[in-house]
Amino acid sequence: MLILAIETSADETAAAVTSERKVLSNIIYSQILLHKKWGGIFPSLAKRAHEERIDWVVEKAIANFAKVEPIHPEGAQARNMQKIDYLAVTQGPGLAVALEVGIKKSVELARRYDKKLIAVNHLEGHIYSPFVQNSQGNPRREFKFPYLALVISGGHTEIVLWKGHLRYQILGETRDDAAGEALDKAAKMLGLGYPGGPIIERLASEVQNEDFHNFPRPMINSNNLDFSFSGLKTSLLYYLQTIPEHERKSYLKQVASSYQNAVFDTLIRKTKRAIIQTGIPRVVVGGGVSANFYLRKLLRHLLKEHKGEVYFPSFPYLTGDNAAMIGVAAYYKAKKGIFYPDLEMLDRIPRMILGEEVKLKI
Ligand code: KG4
Ligand code: ZN
Repeated sequence: MLILAIETSADETAAAVTSERKVLSNIIYSQILLHKKWGGIFPSLAKRAHEERIDWVVEKAIANFAKVEPIHPEGAQARNMQKIDYLAVTQGPGLAVALEVGIKKSVELARRYDKKLIAVNHLEGHIYSPFVQNSQGNPRREFKFPYLALVISGGHTEIVLWKGHLRYQILGETRDDAAGEALDKAAKMLGLGYPGGPIIERLASEVQNEDFHNFPRPMINSNNLDFSFSGLKTSLLYYLQTIPEHERKSYLKQVASSYQNAVFDTLIRKTKRAIIQTGIPRVVVGGGVSANFYLRKLLRHLLKEHKGEVYFPSFPYLTGDNAAMIGVAAYYKAKKGIFYPDLEMLDRIPRMILGEEVKLKI
């Protein structure tokens, strides 16, 4: 079953062709350079950039999977589209003006080529990402439900009980900033650029990820699985005010490393609590922050302690936003016959909740 998937929920314009769990082509146009100087995503710029690139990523994704010669691009697209069984698109959560671009394109293609369309929750894509395979079918890991899924991205921090295909229960989530957002905001305060996660990772690794300052671990003693990162950001602000401007540079690595420790320690302790509460020692991790090597080490250590297993996305392009994970999640929907019933009605849901569309019994 071949699926052409489109993803435009934030600052990546992406299209992919997938076959079950395998990725046949995967095109991502990142807008990072465009948003760098704003220290975050600038909505109207994101919308325009998606509109400018969407046709290009779709055409490349379709051309790549079948290796057609680009002599008659129009004819080639039509020919390759005949081989595609279904279309898939991210419906939410995300930036409304950005989601709209992908949805519009997928509806247009579904109409033109008379295909059924599958609406996917972006977080669902991140949850499935550790099971996405390359075109050779690797890694071959099988599903062993139930899992705990830790979704850690620029927009979300959630611990989810993943009971089976497409069956989710949110056990805990952030009450304010997401983990990636906490790293991005700290990097902005420290004058380091955007996105902050990879920059902070590099600085911290240069001081062996040590914790020098012991920033607060918000909500760590609360008896639930929720997170809160905005207080941590404030404590960084206060801390920086105690250091004279001209001395800040020499403290940069220590501060970055200590801050990263506070964020990750919180993630680890809440994940540990979730393992103990549910008795499930199998964790899948998805979202941009899952690219972090130090966090992967901490999670591996945690799961070893609990005699369990932890799974990360296997390829770098699967940690950040991409359309391959959307195509793979869509495959499990198509298998259950979950298609969007009315193209006319398909609209973006910027605050879409995991499992919402299944509850609606589409
Ligand atoms: O999943 P993603 O690409 O987009 C959203 O759905 O939000 O996640 C982006 C987030 C950003 O906050 C970025 O700083 C963070 O992922 N990130 C990292 C790393 N690479 C990206 N955080 C920590 N370490 C990294 N290596
Ligand atoms: Zn994402």
